[in-house]
Order: sequence, then structure tokens, then C-alpha cells
Amino acid sequence: MLAPPPPGSGLKPIYGSGTPWLIEVLRYTRNPLATITRHRKQFGDITYLNSFGRQIVTPLTPDGAGEVAINRTKSLAAEPAWGFMIGPFFHRGILLMDFEEHRHHRLILQQAFNRTHLEGYLREMQPMIRERVAALPTGDGVRMLSEFKKITLDVALEIFLGLKLPRAEADRINKAFIDCVDAGLSLVRRDVPGGRWSRGLAGRKVLEEFMYRHLPAKRAQRTPDLFSVLCHVESDEGHTFTDADVVNHMIFVLMAAHDTSTIATTTMAYYMARHPQWQDTAREQSRALPAEIEYETLGDFTVLEAIMKESLRLNAPVPGLLREALQDTEIGGYFVPKGALVSATAMVNHYNPALWNDPETFDPGRFSPDRAEDRSHKYAWMPFGGGAHKCIGLFFAQLEIKTIMHNLLLTHEWSVPADYRWKLDYTTLPVPKDRLPVRLRRL
Ligand code: HEM
Repeated sequence: MLAPPPPGSGLKPIYGSGTPWLIEVLRYTRNPLATITRHRKQFGDITYLNSFGRQIVTPLTPDGAGEVAINRTKSLAAEPAWGFMIGPFFHRGILLMDFEEHRHHRLILQQAFNRTHLEGYLREMQPMIRERVAALPTGDGVRMLSEFKKITLDVALEIFLGLKLPRAEADRINKAFIDCVDAGLSLVRRDVPGGRWSRGLAGRKVLEEFMYRHLPAKRAQRTPDLFSVLCHVESDEGHTFTDADVVNHMIFVLMAAHDTSTIATTTMAYYMARHPQWQDTAREQSRALPAEIEYETLGDFTVLEAIMKESLRLNAPVPGLLREALQDTEIGGYFVPKGALVSATAMVNHYNPALWNDPETFDPGRFSPDRAEDRSHKYAWMPFGGGAHKCIGLFFAQLEIKTIMHNLLLTHEWSVPADYRWKLDYTTLPVPKDRLPVRLRRL
């Protein structure tokens, strides 16, 4: 039992396996779905998982996930939970803020993702993505995860920073950024000299220094990149960002946009390699549509859209919405004590047989209007989260992903051996252990 509910509260206790945390973590990272299924069978609607000496309360129903996302009683906070993971490198990012302060920043930040700005980002990213995709290596064993990572990082630097940097400077910034991301996702969370953590702290310093150096020029001129946009956006109430806000949001958004889109495109490539008929259908549609994507035509990519949704269902890049209980509270009538970590975990709903037909099968047709399995519950499909912290970049992500995949389909064909099945590493974000080697051929 996690904690006995207060007498007379009418709340029920939450049960978990009692397995030592190291063993539970090892089991979970080896096969999270098996752990979830076992816990659902044993404990019903909600459970807790032992992790790093703490218990992570995990609702096992879509209603429970919705309660965490919506957080009606404001008992759950994102900052203490995400701060533990990524705080030292991404502090004052918007996901590390809560309640009124979060709302204040979100209303300003949101303006940078309105339609006018999205159209600008889309226009800017097309030529560079086309060029990068055309330059992909071909042959056997092309590791798609690494290739997509390079492309999304270039998008992040060019579209978000809007700076033409000399190669050495771009490499220095890339390295600092990657050091921050790796440190945030590191399992060894200590500042050992030369270790990941200290490299992350050094990386954060490099990024801050870099952003502050370029900030005056960005303030002075309006350009279509996110950096300049953040210097000039105003909420409807007329609020703007300080210099420190711009720097902190830039560093966080670069991170939030990067690995997530990489995992999404890699997952799409994997399933399209394993199901070539879907690759062919998507290519046919891409050929029938203009090579240059317009904001208005994004919705015409119905096949890519279904493949993207199904890929995000089967491998959600952000495993869960992590929160900490600021006070004693409840989820679905179960008692959650102050200090507990809580996670609305995407996989719990994405593989729930009560919500999806044959959930382990790749079947993009389930999102078609006549089947609409994702409509079985508001939180049946939740790769972008929900509630106040719902992904602010979800439209940006979709236009980036579609642009990359559209260009790839038009210029390349890729495959994996018929018996190939990828193995995902779940220790941090879910990535293929072998980086997805494919045979990539130029058309
Ligand atoms: C397929 C790609 C992506 C996925 C699956 C994804 C997923 C998510 C999820 C699940 C959250 C909520 C986390 C929580 O509530 O604890 C989130 C938040 C966020 N995402 Fe994304 N994301 C993606 C791409 C992007 C991109 C491209 C950007 C920026 C351009 C971005 C910016 C953000 C930001 C700023 C937040 C925090 C919002 C807030 O706290 O108010 N994301 N994302």
C-alpha cells in the first residue's frame, strides 16, 4: 500500500508490487507494457511503481490520466517533478513553471506559435529540409535515428535561432545543447568532473552566454525565427518577456522540439519500412500533392497524418506527464499523499485493449473517420499531453514531421529485413537501441 487514506475520507488506498525499486526499474525498462499489464491485472484502476527510491502513482484508466492532466484542484505541480529530471539544465523553461506564473508565461509564449508565425516557420524550414533530405547517405545500414536527429537539430538551430553560424560555432552550440539534453536524461545525477552532469552544466553556460550575446540584435530587428519572435511577442494583456525569459524559454523549447520530433520521424520510418504497403500509399499521396507544402495543404496529407498518429500511439516520444502532489489529494477516489510523484503515462492508454482494437498492431486505418478509435476517450490518444501544459509545439511538430517525411517519400525508398523487429531503450526517452539501420535507396 502506498499510504493509508485518512480515516473517514472515504478514499481508497493505492497498491503496488512492493518489488525493490532497482528490480522494478529494470523490469519496466525491459518491457514497460508487461509491467503495466501485470499491475492492471493485479491492482485495477491505479497503482504505483517504485523508481529511484520513490513511488510513482500511475493511473491505469484514461479518466485517471485526464484527472492528472487537468489537475482541477491544483494539487499537482510540474516543476518539482520535471525539475528533478531536467531542472539544472532547463530551469525556468515553461514546463518547469506552475499555476499563475505558468499561465502568465504561456499566454505570451503561445503567441509565438500562432498561425502567422507557424506559416513563417514552415516557409523557412522547407528549403533546408529538402536540402538535408536530398543529402542523406544511401545504402545498407543507414541509421535513421542519427540522420533524423541531425535534421531536427539543424531545423532547431536555423528556424529557432535564425542565425547563419560559422560551422565551428554551430558545432560548439550543438555540442553544448546535446550535453544539456544528455545530462537531463542521465541516470547518474551527480556532478562528477568530466561526467555527463558536469558537461551538462557547462553546456548550459555556453548556451546562456551565446543567447545573451545575440539577444540585442534580435531585440533590434523582427525576423521570422523563434528567437526574434520571443523578443517581440506580447500577450493579449500586453505582457512581454524579459531578456532572461527569452533565454530560458529558447533553451527549453530547443530541447522540447528536438528529440521528440526525432523519435516521431524514426518511429514512422520504422513502421513504414515494416509495412511497405503504407510507405507506397503515403508516397502515392505525396506525389499527387505539390512538393512545396503550404499551411493550407497540410491537412491533405491524410495518409501521413494517420501514420503519424499511429506511430505516436505505438511509441509516444514523451512517456508521461510527470507531476508531484503538493498536498494530500485524490485521483478517481484513491488517496494520493503529499510528496508522491504522479505520472499520466501515455502507454497505459495507448495500449489499453478497452480503448483500441488489437492495440499492439500497426493499423493507421484506426484513425479514419469511420473507425475513429481515438475518439473512444479524450485521453485514449495523448502523445501531446493535455491540460495547462499540453504541448505548445504540437502544430509545429506536425508541420516539421510532415515536411521531413513528405520529402523523404518523394526522393527515397527504405526497407528493413522482413524479420527485423526493433528493440527500444526505455531508460530515458524511447529510442531504438540500434538507431534503426535501414537500406536507404534514392529514387
Ligand atoms: C512529436 C513531437 C512532440 C511530442 C510527442 C511532444 C509531447 C509533449 C508533451 C507530452 C508535453 C507535456 C508534458 C507534460 O505535461 O508534462 C509537451 C510539452 C511541451 N512541448 Fe512538446 N512535444 C513534441 C514536440 C514539440 C515541439 C516541436 C515543440 C516546440 C516547437 C514543443 C514544445 C513543448 C513545450 C514548450 C512544452 C511545455 C508546455 C507547457 O509547459 O506549457 N514540443 N510536449
